[in-house]
Amino acid sequence: MKLAPYIKHSLLHRTVDTPLTLILLVTSRCNARCTHCFFADELNQTPDIMTLENYECLSRELTELCQLYLGGGEPFLRKGLVEICRVFDRNNHVSNVTIPTNGLLVDRIAAVVEEILDTCSFDLMISLSLDGTRQCHDAIRGVKGGFDKLLQTYARLVRLQAKCSSFRIQATTTIMRDNVKDLPRLIDWVKGNMPGISAHNFELVRGGPSEYCDMLPPLEELQSFGRVHRRMVLANDRYLPESRVKSWLAKRMKANLFDECLQVLDTERQVFDCVGGVGMGVVDYKGDVLLCELLPPVGNVLEDGFRAAWCSPKAERLRRAIRAKKCHCTHSCFQANSNLMHPKAYLKMLR
Ligand SMILES: C[S@@+](CC[C@H](N)C(=O)[O-])C[C@H]1O[C@@H](n2cnc3c(N)ncnc32)[C@H](O)[C@@H]1O
Ligand code: SF4
Ligand code: SF4
Repeated sequence: MKLAPYIKHSLLHRTVDTPLTLILLVTSRCNARCTHCFFADELNQTPDIMTLENYECLSRELTELCQLYLGGGEPFLRKGLVEICRVFDRNNHVSNVTIPTNGLLVDRIAAVVEEILDTCSFDLMISLSLDGTRQCHDAIRGVKGGFDKLLQTYARLVRLQAKCSSFRIQATTTIMRDNVKDLPRLIDWVKGNMPGISAHNFELVRGGPSEYCDMLPPLEELQSFGRVHRRMVLANDRYLPESRVKSWLAKRMKANLFDECLQVLDTERQVFDCVGGVGMGVVDYKGDVLLCELLPPVGNVLEDGFRAAWCSPKAERLRRAIRAKKCHCTHSCFQANSNLMHPKAYLKMLR
């Protein structure tokens, strides 16, 4: 992972006029029914409106990209996912691409990942969404046999990893009442049975911006898990093994991020300066442009073009509200990027 563009951004303090990190929600289609999915009402309602040409136009409006997240829906259901990757590789020289997946489409995921690795030059991360040990995972995801499918996908990806050093696999678990008691067992299980996983990430289940989610476990239970989490993160010797310095920094940042999320819940305030709408933005499957995943759209790439939407009066109003910390949330992706793009976070890591 390249840190230089983030450090440059943090020093220039938010003068970039297009985001360094972009989340593209490439589809609203999905083959699972997760109890906690924030996207549940929109799943499988609308065809994917953005075409490859639309992505080509969007990418030409952006400058260099550090990170691209291809989410959904289930991204591997999106036709032309490899071609979409190629567009941002070619036009924006994107450094890192992350694709989260429920891991159900074993053959398709393996084939698409192999093609991406063969034809694109960025570092690729596949994040397997794993919400518990077998029974717990299948109950949350609403798919019998889903856990075993995810393991088959994992095994296929590990084989590809052996051929490509710029490809990593992670597991991501969303914490909620239904799995919080299962988490210590899950951590041990992943450690013992998934040696190809470079990091096991945890996300708190969330509602809208500044909105309490009733699926969240009580704060005390989360704080107690926070201590387990910190020990797990700092003991991980598979995280960025190629650089001891980067690994040390990244692990401290990761452990701090979880503590910051708990502070957000406790204080009901934005405890980091969120880069939503400055260093980071979102384009969804309809082409809507959002400053972050939780706030309303500020325009549409098909109707207005990306830059016009990104710089619209509505976007400016929302940006002012974000700067004034009128919203808060525990979205770890925005939080991680906010830390990477903020000088204060680098100082905190040293403490
Ligand atoms: C929206 S899914 C899209 C990719 C793919 N369908 C999957 O499940 O990995 C991306 C991640 O968001 C998580 N997620 C879904 N609903 C959430 C919520 N309400 N709060 C926090 N994370 C959530 C999922 O568990 C998954 O790890
Ligand atoms: S697999 Fe992903 S998009 Fe589909 S319901 Fe689950 S969390 Fe939502
Ligand atoms: S804190 Fe950031 S990610 Fe969260 S709602 Fe506000 S702008 Fe969005």
